[in-house]
Amino acid sequence: MNPLTTTERQPVDDFSWVPDGFVWGVATSAYQIEGAVAEDGRQPSIWDTLSHTPGRVAGGATGDVACDHYHRWRDDIEMMKALGVDAYRFSVAWPRVIPDGDGPVNPAGLAFYERLVDALLDAGITPYPTLYHWDLPQALQDRGGWTARETAELFATYAAIVAGALGDRVTNWVTLNEPRCSAWIGHLEGRHAPGISDIRAAVPASYHLLLGHGLAARAIRARTSGAQVGLVNLLSACEPASDREADIDAAARFDGHANRWWLDPVHGRGFPEDMLRLYGTDLPIQAGDMETIATPLDWLGVNYYTPSVLADDPDGPLPYAREVPAPDGARRTLLDWEVRAEGLEQVLVRVARDYGARRLYVTENGSAWADTVAQDGQVHDPERARYLEEHLAVCGRAIQLGVPLAGYFAWSLLDNFEWADGYEPRFGLVYVDYATQRRVIKDSGARYARVIRSYRERAGAAAR
Ligand code: IFM
Repeated sequence: MNPLTTTERQPVDDFSWVPDGFVWGVATSAYQIEGAVAEDGRQPSIWDTLSHTPGRVAGGATGDVACDHYHRWRDDIEMMKALGVDAYRFSVAWPRVIPDGDGPVNPAGLAFYERLVDALLDAGITPYPTLYHWDLPQALQDRGGWTARETAELFATYAAIVAGALGDRVTNWVTLNEPRCSAWIGHLEGRHAPGISDIRAAVPASYHLLLGHGLAARAIRARTSGAQVGLVNLLSACEPASDREADIDAAARFDGHANRWWLDPVHGRGFPEDMLRLYGTDLPIQAGDMETIATPLDWLGVNYYTPSVLADDPDGPLPYAREVPAPDGARRTLLDWEVRAEGLEQVLVRVARDYGARRLYVTENGSAWADTVAQDGQVHDPERARYLEEHLAVCGRAIQLGVPLAGYFAWSLLDNFEWADGYEPRFGLVYVDYATQRRVIKDSGARYARVIRSYRERAGAAAR
């Protein structure tokens, strides 16, 4: 693995790099923003269970209310209009639509997403729904969750129902968000729901997530015409902590764990042999599964936040590679994640080059800070604006290098429930005052709006 290279940055306001039709978007997910967890027939998800388990989430936070988006979605669409985005990537909550994961459909749950999609379209904003962003119905977890094959099959049933309801208005679909986090953080590290720490659960969970992805992709296509189906992965730019062979090997192992395990099978290459040996756990493969997992995709989504610098850690947990904190003096966000935009370029180039991606989107990218409302009533967040500019500039550089990048979705539209880290880390372009639910567009949001506006002005001028 080559170390990250520093590239010549593209100035963000030079839009010569932006291809026609480039999509400017923002992203969120259901459990992180909706609240209303017991309304209109919704049943608990694994995140309701985990967040209500004492000691599992910072500050004892839960998604019970979150940003109250379930009631304030109209206001949130106004925020998107003010930012001027083209597209909104949100997730559909399985426990709203099929509250027990299996069995009857809840019409009120589906109706929420129908209203949302209709209003987005009225506002000229293209919906990009994600079908699974970590909120598995608890009733399915009680039957084994992602470690059980039936969850993959039931996911496809749910996908077909959502596609049947929204498919006349939605073209762009995401099956799963970051299956790597569901499998590894949820079933190996145990920090996320369902809070399991066992490689013998994590490997089957990873397998059934990818199987569910393939089955759902087929189900969406069977229920709609012209669907553009993608999968969203969190990808890591992996760099050894030193020139020691052991650290170089550790970086390769982490790359297998974080990237290749998730990319190889969906590209028809099977699961990486080196990782299978390392995990020492058999896959529950049945005839035809690998073809299902490799169902051709219309596009791939890349989520990127920070590079990963790895040191050998033979006594640590799988994959025996420890992420080394950024050195003193490096820029870090509130979550201690190093700010290094070149890592985004590295992962984009890699997916395009090594996997022959034909269309990519940056489906999440952003930074967490401890924002506050200033005396002037505004939220001044220069670090987030700088992070945004640097990463957009790197998108330009990647496009110049030939990466087929078709859009960028900032994470996130709103400050929201940051999983085990609770509400303190704020990722939004829009500030949320959780006590009053008032929204304030941050300086970074205004910056993003200016980038989008000036791109449109130039694109318009070029067309005239
Ligand atoms: O908030 C999360 C999101 O749900 C998935 N991707 C990473 C984000 C920041 O941690």
